Amino acid sequence: MPAGRFIVFEGIDGSGLSTQAALLAEWLLGKGHPVYLTKEPSAGPAGSQIRLALAGRLVSRPGPGAPAGLDPRAMALLFAADRMDHLAGEIEPLLEAGTHVVCDRYVLSSLAYQGAEVDPAWVQAINAGARPADLTVLLRVPPQVALARIRRARPRAELYENGERLGRVLDNYERLARELAGSGQRIAVLDGTLPVDAVHREVVSLVAPLVTPPA
Ligand code: TMP
Repeated sequence: MPAGRFIVFEGIDGSGLSTQAALLAEWLLGKGHPVYLTKEPSAGPAGSQIRLALAGRLVSRPGPGAPAGLDPRAMALLFAADRMDHLAGEIEPLLEAGTHVVCDRYVLSSLAYQGAEVDPAWVQAINAGARPADLTVLLRVPPQVALARIRRARPRAELYENGERLGRVLDNYERLARELAGSGQRIAVLDGTLPVDAVHREVVSLVAPLVTPPA
């Protein structure tokens, strides 16, 4: 049985990652492929802590000099810990069993988001054990468009959701995409402002050649 393909969606908040990940999983399923749709932060123990921190409900112990939320390096470690646990407990066994895994966010999220706050080389180092994706799709959406989408969906902003920060994260993503492509990894940058169907069609045209027809 051939190994499953590991396909990752990346982009700033509000770029349509979960919509496109779900559409791709549905398409693969419709073609008869075994598929697993997942996301990071995951539903595992480290991922649950991250969710609390993102919502501002988990803070460092009180005291003089304590940061308002969790220390950014602690956040970077939590994201990396969640990733290792997610890989070992779900992603890798499924890929080995021939199931395609579609993941909403992965290593590039840490490099783009945490790399904007703490030493990027260190973020790279703590994520070095994570296997590369077979295909990464970066959905490119300007921060102001992304923020307008987020505000429509929910009134309370999460930790990383402000225009200036998302702009820095997008710059990081674009640089990382060039670096990844230069190192021979498969990465596609798509215009995430196009209609959902149009983006999905482009995604399918990238994924179809990677998946052998099911027996
Ligand atoms: P979500 O909104 O896609 O569920 O992601 C939650 C937030 O976590 C989003 O702002 C991106 C951020 N994030 C990181 O900063 N680093 C990471 O490694 C991951 C996976 C997400």
